[in-house]
Amino acid sequence: MPFSTVEKLSEHVGGEVTLRGWLYNLRSSKKIQFMLVRDGTGTCQCLAFRNALSEEVFEAIGRLNQECSLTVTGVVKEDARAPGGHELNVSGFELIGDSLDYPITKKEHGVDFLLSHRHLWVRSKLQHAILRIRAEVIAGCQEWLNDEGFIRYDTPLLTPCSAEGTSTLFETQYFDEGPAFLAQTGQLYVESGMMSFGRVYCFGPTFRAEKSKTRRHLTEFWMIEPEAAFVGHEENLEIQEQMVSAVVARVLAKCGKELEALDRDRAVLEKIKAPFVRMTYDRALAILAEHAAELGDAGVPVWGDDFGAPHEALLSRLNEKPLFITHYPAAIKAFYMQPDPERPEVALCYDMLAPEGYGEVIGGSERIHDAELLESRIREHGLNVEDYQWYLDLRRYGSVPHSGFGIGIERLTTWISGIRHIRETIPFPRLLGKIYP
Ligand code: 4AD
Ligand code: MG
Repeated sequence: MPFSTVEKLSEHVGGEVTLRGWLYNLRSSKKIQFMLVRDGTGTCQCLAFRNALSEEVFEAIGRLNQECSLTVTGVVKEDARAPGGHELNVSGFELIGDSLDYPITKKEHGVDFLLSHRHLWVRSKLQHAILRIRAEVIAGCQEWLNDEGFIRYDTPLLTPCSAEGTSTLFETQYFDEGPAFLAQTGQLYVESGMMSFGRVYCFGPTFRAEKSKTRRHLTEFWMIEPEAAFVGHEENLEIQEQMVSAVVARVLAKCGKELEALDRDRAVLEKIKAPFVRMTYDRALAILAEHAAELGDAGVPVWGDDFGAPHEALLSRLNEKPLFITHYPAAIKAFYMQPDPERPEVALCYDMLAPEGYGEVIGGSERIHDAELLESRIREHGLNVEDYQWYLDLRRYGSVPHSGFGIGIERLTTWISGIRHIRETIPFPRLLGKIYP
C-alpha cells in the first residue's frame, strides 16, 4: 500500500493509501466512526463503516485513545465538504503508540495548564497554525534577504559586554575569563560582517532579562538583524517596508488554512504593502496629546520620555499600514545610534509599529560611523570603553555610513497571526517566572 500524507491525498483519489499520524479526535455512532487523523501536513476525516469492517476491527477503532499514533489504510474519496477536501474509507488500521489519558482534552483548559503542557499543546490545531506561520515568517524573511544580496553572518550568543543597556543582561561565568552575557542582539558583531560583505544579516535567539510581564515580552526571542553599508536613514526604511510586505504576502499565499483556523481577517493583511506611514517622534507626541483622554492612567509622555505599550498601541491603531516612528530623543536610545546632523538631540532611528494596536515589531537606526563620537557615547552611557575596542576598530579602519535593524520574529508572528499574546508564537516560550518545560 502506498503511503500518503494528508496534503498529497489529491494525488490518490480512488486509490487505497496508508496515512501515518495521530488520532486527533474520534466520534462514534452505531454504524460509523469518524476518525480525525492528523499527520502534520493536515487533518483527514477517516470513515470506518461497521458493514465494511470485521466486528473486531470496528470495535477496536471505537476504543482508540485521543492522540495515539497509528496508520490508517483506506480508499481516498473527494469530498468538498470534508476538511481538506478528502476523506478516507477505512479498510484497516494499526496502532503504533497508545496514548492513555491524554491530558489536553476538549474541555477548556486554563493557560497555565496549557503552558505547563506545552510539549503536548503544540499539537493542537491553533498552536499548529501559529507555529506554521512562524516558520513561514522566518523562511520569508530569509528568502527576501538572500534574494536582495544579504549574506547570513552568524554572531555569538556568549558575549563579553552589553549592547542594549545593562539592565536586561543574563550573566554567566565564562571559565577564568570572568562574567559573560547572553547576547541581547547580534548587531555589534554583524556590523563587522557588513564591512566584509556589504550586506549581511544575523539570525538567532537573543536574550533579555526583562522583568516585565506583558503580552509582548519574552526573555528569549528570535531576531533577524540586517545591516548594510552605505545605506542611510531613508533607504533603511525602504528595505524594511519591502521586506515586511514580502513576508506578509508570502504568509497570505502559503498559510491560507492556518489563517482561516485562526480566524484572521485576510483583508487586513492584504493592505500591508509598501510604502508604510512615517511620522516623527515629535508629531507622535502631539497626536498622543490630542488623545489624552483615551490614554487614561498611562498619561501623555513629555518630550524625552519613551513610549509605553499603551502609547504604541494607540498610535498603531491610527493607520491600516505599519507606522515608522522616527527621530526619537537620542538619550532614550542605544549608544550606537547616529545623531541627526541637523538636530543632534534626536537620533536617526525608528521603530516600526504594526497596525491594529500591536506596536513595535522592528527597531533600527543609522549607526555612528565616527570613532570619536562613538567613543564619547560609550562613555556617556556608563560603559567601559576597553570592552568596545574591537567595535571602535570598525570605525578606525575603513568606516562607512551604515544602517540596520532588528525584527523580532515572535512579534511579527503575533501580529500576522492576529493573536493576543506573544507566548504562543514560539515552541517553548521563556517568560518571567516560567521555565518548565
Ligand atoms: O528594539 P530592539 O531592542 O533593537 C535591537 O536589539 C537592535 N540591536 C536591532 C538592530 O538595530 N539590529 O529589538 C529589536 C526588536 C524589537 O522591535 C522587537 O520586535 C524585538 O526585537 N524584541 C522583543 N521581542 C520579544 N520579546 C522581547 N523582550 C523583545 N525585545 C525586543
Ligand atoms: Mg526597540
